[in-house]
Amino acid sequence: MRLERVAAHVPAGARLADIGSDHGYLPVALMRRGAIVAAVAGEVALTPFRAAERTVRENDLEQHITVRLASGLSAIEPVDGITAISICGMGGETIRDILDHGKARLSGQERLILQPNGGEQPLRQWLMEHDYRILVEELLREKRFDYEIIVAERAGPVAYTPEELYFGPLQMQARSPAFLAKWQRILREKQKTLNSFAHAREAVPEEKLQEIARQARWIVELLG
Ligand SMILES: C[S@@+](CC[C@H](N)C(=O)[O-])C[C@H]1O[C@@H](n2cnc3c(N)ncnc32)[C@H](O)[C@@H]1O
Repeated sequence: MRLERVAAHVPAGARLADIGSDHGYLPVALMRRGAIVAAVAGEVALTPFRAAERTVRENDLEQHITVRLASGLSAIEPVDGITAISICGMGGETIRDILDHGKARLSGQERLILQPNGGEQPLRQWLMEHDYRILVEELLREKRFDYEIIVAERAGPVAYTPEELYFGPLQMQARSPAFLAKWQRILREKQKTLNSFAHAREAVPEEKLQEIARQARWIVELLG
């Protein structure tokens, strides 16, 4: 379901680079449906790289999907004419680092379809600092995990407040039941953490305590 939702945000007829493709399921599924015209599957690790090669071969798609053993955006060559980049199933900080290290390879025309597992705030911060506007945010829950999908395009300077970077600007507006339930769960966790800090034998760094207290305050305000 998670990759199906990611797939729904890849524009029809895209030339997709799927970075950290693992088995290559996303580009292969999209290619088989005729939803994209070409793809690059990038993998930094040998075992998933070979798995992606196998998936592509078994589906007879070698003419359309190039599998490259490469770190991050170095899998992309100018000749690929990439129009969309998906980076999914990694921490938000890892996705941010992949974008940052590879920013010279971004033309600015590509749609980014990102699916972080946590660490959304630093990822949104990077997007804002590099003029990417968030076009879509989706929240889904699968096997008791919350997943976010963030779709962004470079569109000139954009400013998000610290709260928008924390909660997601569009999710904050939409206030879906799934979003509110997620933040109710997180608030309970934060309150437990603050409670355990209060009873801790060793002093907790003041900065850390203040940070969690501020986040808990934001969540209380959000939930009203
Ligand atoms: C948990 S899997 C996610 C696979 C798939 N994208 C998904 O969402 O189901 C993360 C994959 O990213 C790869 N990866 C991690 N860092 C990477 C990097 N810097 N460049 C390319 N691939 C990377 C890992 O080797 C692993 O196969």
